[in-house]
Amino acid sequence: MKKKMKIAAIVGSIILPFALVTHAFAEGGRMEVDKDFYPYAPSLVKWNKTGADFTPPETCAECHPQQYEEWMGSMHSLAFQDPVYQGELNMAIKKAGHEIAKQCEGCHTPAAVVKGEIKGAGLTGLSPLAMAGVSCDVCHSITDHTHWQTPYHQPENGSMILSPGKDGEDGPILTKNGPFPVEEGCGEDFHECVQNPLFLQSELCASCHQVFHYETHTPLEATYMEWKNGPYAAKGIECQDCHMVEIDAFKRSADEFIRPKRDEYHHYFNGANFLLYYLTELAAKKSGNDELAVNAHNKFEMAVARLQAAADLEVSPIYRNDKLAEIKVRVKNMRAGHNLPTSLTNIRQMWLEITAKDKDGKVIMTTGTVDAKGNLPPDVRLLNSDGQNDGFHFALDPWEIQSFARHETIPPKGYKDVHYGLAAEKGQPITIDVMLRYRQAEQKVAEKLLSVVPDDIHLNEIYGITEVPVLPVIDMVKKSVTINKGS
Ligand code: HEC
Ligand code: HEC
Ligand code: HEC
Ligand code: HEC
Ligand code: HEC
Repeated sequence: MKKKMKIAAIVGSIILPFALVTHAFAEGGRMEVDKDFYPYAPSLVKWNKTGADFTPPETCAECHPQQYEEWMGSMHSLAFQDPVYQGELNMAIKKAGHEIAKQCEGCHTPAAVVKGEIKGAGLTGLSPLAMAGVSCDVCHSITDHTHWQTPYHQPENGSMILSPGKDGEDGPILTKNGPFPVEEGCGEDFHECVQNPLFLQSELCASCHQVFHYETHTPLEATYMEWKNGPYAAKGIECQDCHMVEIDAFKRSADEFIRPKRDEYHHYFNGANFLLYYLTELAAKKSGNDELAVNAHNKFEMAVARLQAAADLEVSPIYRNDKLAEIKVRVKNMRAGHNLPTSLTNIRQMWLEITAKDKDGKVIMTTGTVDAKGNLPPDVRLLNSDGQNDGFHFALDPWEIQSFARHETIPPKGYKDVHYGLAAEKGQPITIDVMLRYRQAEQKVAEKLLSVVPDDIHLNEIYGITEVPVLPVIDMVKKSVTINKGS
């Protein structure tokens, strides 16, 4: 009898919090965002407004030239001017309205959003601060986050607090947050320094690297959560330990779970987007900025090296009734701290290209080859995702996607097996060439997004391109193995 009572009491205490949570949902099971607490909703960025203004990166560069050079040409410096982003933003504003597109801007150029500068897509008439996207003073003004106060109690959609300074007796004082204990003279006469432990943690990045649908809360980009649920978070390896260091140090972080040394950190924020570095190099060459061209080229090579260190492949034969029936290709995520691929998994493309030849060199099976126009065959096995709208039809745009019809990305240190039918008698050697390949988007998607850029972005003038070239593809891993050699 006593025992029963106890169980009832426990059940009661479990049900109660859930009952409370359901109350917080608006009609249709969706969460309400408190507009007083989050005035820029659907972006959850907050601004602690004082007399202190944000500073454009060129000013920081005067005293921090190295950080500036590293950040310049990085995806963070391009986050607002990126033509692919501008194309998608332009569509978002046209199809969903600017109120909703504010969500996008709150991550791609947050300081300009809180200051009310951004009125739509395009670059005309904007301040250097707005153009600089995720600039120095976006990150170094992050004093705190509201990750656990968001409607779903997790980092998302820009849940950070920006505060570039405070009001002093003789006027505003700039304060810059950073990783180190404050030393005498830090910031000279320009800014005060504040030690903020967030700078050594993934939670600094989480506000922006976790994107949910503005209304249905479908996770559209989940890099932070993928990391959080994986082995790197468990072993204390943070985003910075792979993305703010050279390739060798990143490999060490991934392989040995050892954090880099203090002097190894750099402001590269280098990921997988080699296409944007490639475009930036084109633009720099066209405008005669040789320094930026070299810089962007180095970042291109770094992104390629990172991709080529991320994965591995294993090929094995599968026999049935004593005959070769299939081959199994195991794709292993060796060094990505989150799923592979991550972020915009419905747009990024990672796939297997395979050619099998018999002993005379005759091709007996082939799949995954890009044609001369940049298109993939319909039978290709893509390791990414497919979004769908509320009618369960294929959808690409972030304001439309309400669920995923397919999500085939590989968790950190995990693997995915892909099977291919391949029949042969035992003992007939078959050579299999397999490649894991990657590009930023399907050819048609890139063409579409670049065709809808705002009127003030002239691709020919900026990049010297009149039509979208066949997108570059990177071979992440290449293997050649001979199977079925004998009994
Ligand atoms: C919570 C922050 C956040 C929000 C909100 C957000 N983004 Fe992004 N966006 C990112 C991050 C981080 C990346 C980089 C991920 C990657 O490289 O895959 C990105 C990448 C992109 C890219 C790919 C750019 C390229 O060159 O491949 C496009 C396009 C884009 N965002 C458009 C949008 C649009 C349009 C919206 C609004 C509907 C939006 N984003 C909302 C953070 C955000
Ligand atoms: C995406 C966020 C982000 C942006 C953008 C950013 N920083 Fe940082 N910064 C960091 C983090 C994280 C650290 C800590 C790295 C570490 O552990 O050493 C840091 C460290 C620093 C430091 C301390 C010394 C060092 O290099 O570790 C300085 C100075 C600095 N940043 C200046 C800048 C300047 C100048 C810019 C713009 C050109 C900039 N930052 C852009 C996140 C950012
Ligand atoms: C007048 C020179 C000057 C300017 C301009 C300047 N800084 Fe600094 N800053 C310093 C000095 C000096 C230090 C001390 C350590 C060092 O040299 O890195 C420092 C330290 C820092 C640190 C390290 C804080 C810590 O201890 O963890 C950060 C972060 C930083 N600055 C960010 C910025 C940003 C962002 C800007 C632009 C908004 C900026 N600084 C502009 C001089 C300057
Ligand atoms: C204010 C929002 C914001 C913060 C904070 C932020 N990021 Fe980003 N990050 C972005 C956006 C937006 C992009 C994508 C720009 C684009 O594709 O146009 C991006 C791009 C990147 C990329 C390049 C991705 C690629 O495709 O190559 C890396 C790597 C990255 N961020 C790492 C970090 C790390 C590490 C931190 C924390 C130290 C961080 N970010 C903090 C918004 C942010
Ligand atoms: C153990 C190393 C490691 C850690 C930790 C790590 N990453 Fe990555 N990251 C990689 C590698 C390798 C790639 C390239 C392969 C890929 O795209 O997944 C990558 C790619 C990316 C990209 C580019 C995706 C795209 O579509 O272009 C973004 C954005 C990113 N990481 C952000 C983060 C953030 C944010 C964190 C922390 C929550 C983080 N990473 C932690 C290794 C790491």
